[in-house]
Formats: sequence, C-alpha cells, structure tokens
Amino acid sequence: MVHYGGQSAKKSGLLDRIFKALEVEGVDYVSLGGVVPNPRLSKVYEGIELCKEEDVDFILAVGGGSVIDSAKAIGYGMANQFCDVWDLYTGKEQPTGCMPIGAVLTIAAAGSEMSNSSVITNEDGWYKKALDIDYGRCKFAVMNPELTYTLPEYQTESGCTDIMMHTMERYFVVEDTMDLTDSFAEDVMKNVMVNAKILLDDPKNYDARAEIMWAGSVSHNGLTGCGTNGGDWATHLIEHELGGMFDVAHGAGLAAVWGSWARYVMDEKPERFAKFAKNVMGVEDQGDVKKTALAGIEAVEDFYHSINMPVNMKELGIEPTDEQIEEMAMKATNENTVELGAFKKLKAEDLVKIYTAAK
Ligand code: NZQ
Ligand code: ZN
Repeated sequence: MVHYGGQSAKKSGLLDRIFKALEVEGVDYVSLGGVVPNPRLSKVYEGIELCKEEDVDFILAVGGGSVIDSAKAIGYGMANQFCDVWDLYTGKEQPTGCMPIGAVLTIAAAGSEMSNSSVITNEDGWYKKALDIDYGRCKFAVMNPELTYTLPEYQTESGCTDIMMHTMERYFVVEDTMDLTDSFAEDVMKNVMVNAKILLDDPKNYDARAEIMWAGSVSHNGLTGCGTNGGDWATHLIEHELGGMFDVAHGAGLAAVWGSWARYVMDEKPERFAKFAKNVMGVEDQGDVKKTALAGIEAVEDFYHSINMPVNMKELGIEPTDEQIEEMAMKATNENTVELGAFKKLKAEDLVKIYTAAK
C-alpha cells in the first residue's frame, strides 16, 4: 500500500513516478492518501481495513513524519489484531510486531524515517499519543534532498526546529554524559542552525537541504543520545498537547514552549545549560554559571526568531484559556498519574506553570 498525505506528493509528480516504478517492476499496489499533519486515528482505521481487504503485505509511506507515523500505526494494527490499535498508543496493550514499512521522505523534520516512534491523534477527545518501540522502524528510507525543494518556508523552518529539538531533548540530562556523544550532538545542532538560515534565502540549496535531511535522521535515530540515559522529552510531550488541541505545526509548537520549559528547569543543573550556551550557541562565559545558562536560552530564542519561528504561544497563533491549559496539563500527565521529563520531573501543576509562562 502506498500511503501519502494531502497534495504535495501528487502536485510534484512524485506519486506518479512511484506508481510507474512499481508497475515497471510488476509490483501490485493499492494507495491511500489524505493523511493530515498530526495524523488521525480514523485514517489509521481506514488503512487497516484497506490492508485487510487487499491482502497488503508492505506499506510505503510517501511524505513526512505524519504519513510515516500513520503507516507505522497501520502496520501495528495489522500485526496486532488481538486488540484495537489505539490501545497500543495508550499503553493498555503491548505490540508484538509491525508490518514492514518503507519511506520516501519529502520533508526533513520528525526523523520518523529512522526513529522507533509513531505519534497519532485520536479525534475522540483529541488525545495525541506516541508509541515508541523498535518493531515499527522503517526497513528503508529513500532520502533525496531535491524532494524537499517544494516545501513552504514555514514547514522547512519548523522542520529544522524539530531537528534541533530532537538533539536538545537528548542533550539536557542531569547525569554525566559521554564527551563523544556531546560532541556529535553539538555539531548536529550547530549544523542545523547554519543550514536553517541558508534555506531562508536559498530554499533550493542542495547542500543545505542535504545537511538538514541527514541531520533530521541522525538527530532522532538514537545516536545523539548514546550514553545520555535517553534524554528529557518533556518539551515534546508539552507540545504534543498543543498539536492535539490546536493542530499546530509540531516544530513551531516546540519553539513556542521550549524557552519556558528551559527557564523552569534550568536550576536543576545550570552547568549543563551553560555548556550548551558556550559550545552550541557561541555565548561568551558571563562569569556566572546561571547568567551564562540564561544567555544560552535567550540565544536559542533569538535563533528561532531569526528563522521566523515563534517563542511563545501568542506568536504561534494560539491563546489557550486557563481551562484549556489545565486540560492539556492533565492529559499530558494521564490525569496527573505520571511525571514528565528527566532533567526535572514535572507534574501537572508544573506544566500549568510552563504553559502559562509560554502564553
Ligand atoms: O500533506 P501534504 O500535502 O504532503 O503537505 C505536507 C504537510 O502539510 C507538507 N509537505 C511535506 N512534504 C512536502 C510538503 N509540502 C511541499 N513539498 C514537500 N516536499 O508539509 C506539511 C507537514 O508534513 P508533516 O508530515 O506533518 O511534517 P513532519 O515531518 O514535521 O511531521 C509532523 C508529525 O510527526 C510527529 C509530530 O508530532 C507530527 O504529528 N512526530 C513524529 C516523530 C517520530 N515519529 O519519530 C517525532 C517527532 O518528535 C514528532 O512528534
Ligand atoms: Zn519532534
């Protein structure tokens, strides 16, 4: 089954090229389009039904994180027919496998082409949940930077932000890390910042597109987290509620809340933030570890502004009410039964403060 999104892969002629290639090779296929950003559970159910009817044995995702995640979810649904696929995303049931998935990547952002993750939104209650387990990793990913030339600026830069954040989530840990991993991570982040700026003025710059595409995969395949105990991930979970409730672009949503998260947790280990400030953001030592740490956070926000990304929710285009903030905090913590993050463990009341500071 060839799985794709809204219009872009049709318009660019990519889908036709893929269909033709399959025909030339004598590979039977069916297709299912219509995956939207923040991919929906209803489309996953539709895909599972089609796969059953047509005896599908492989899913080719043509698109970005949303299409790949939807393909993974359909794959999980097919391989775990003992339960409703959503139960795998809520943790009620455990998957035992996934139908094989491949990807033709058209946007460098989510890193789903190499990650073990799939994130799906259930329209019934607007819950956005991730399933992170190795069964769903793509068997292959075709990564041609030219396929990303047609991206609008906002999607390009939102993608660059997500790539930065996948490494930052892994970088901000309180325990000791490995120097080699830190160096990899710092280089990935610096590389993304340089190339995100190049693409603002020169969106068809092949080299910059290639650097960003490779950074997107490296950022989320585990390499930049090797020896860091997995990372923090609170910013992602805080953002997923914005995606679920307000349907915002994921990377832009991360940019809007990261500064508030960083200021809230920084005191747990300001040395880590100071190291980041100096090694990644090029901030000069301010003679005081907290001042250096804060200058690093401000430098990240300046960078986001320089690529036209928001640094608060108003700039993101949303103004959640206090009730909506409460609802997001409760959903993100499963009704205050789990704590988010590792740098500092966050309860629902902490999330309320972070969302409020990000207004
Ligand atoms: O639907 P079409 O018309 O294709 O338009 C898409 C969509 O509107 C467009 N687009 C994609 N390639 C294009 C293009 N437009 C022009 N030219 C192209 N070549 O871009 C828009 C965004 O696409 P989407 O797939 O939603 O972007 P992204 O890759 O950022 O994926 C976001 C989703 O991935 C999840 C996010 O939460 C969000 O739901 N994530 C998945 C992760 C994972 N599986 O590992 C990790 C991430 O942290 C993230 O949570
Ligand atoms: Zn992300």
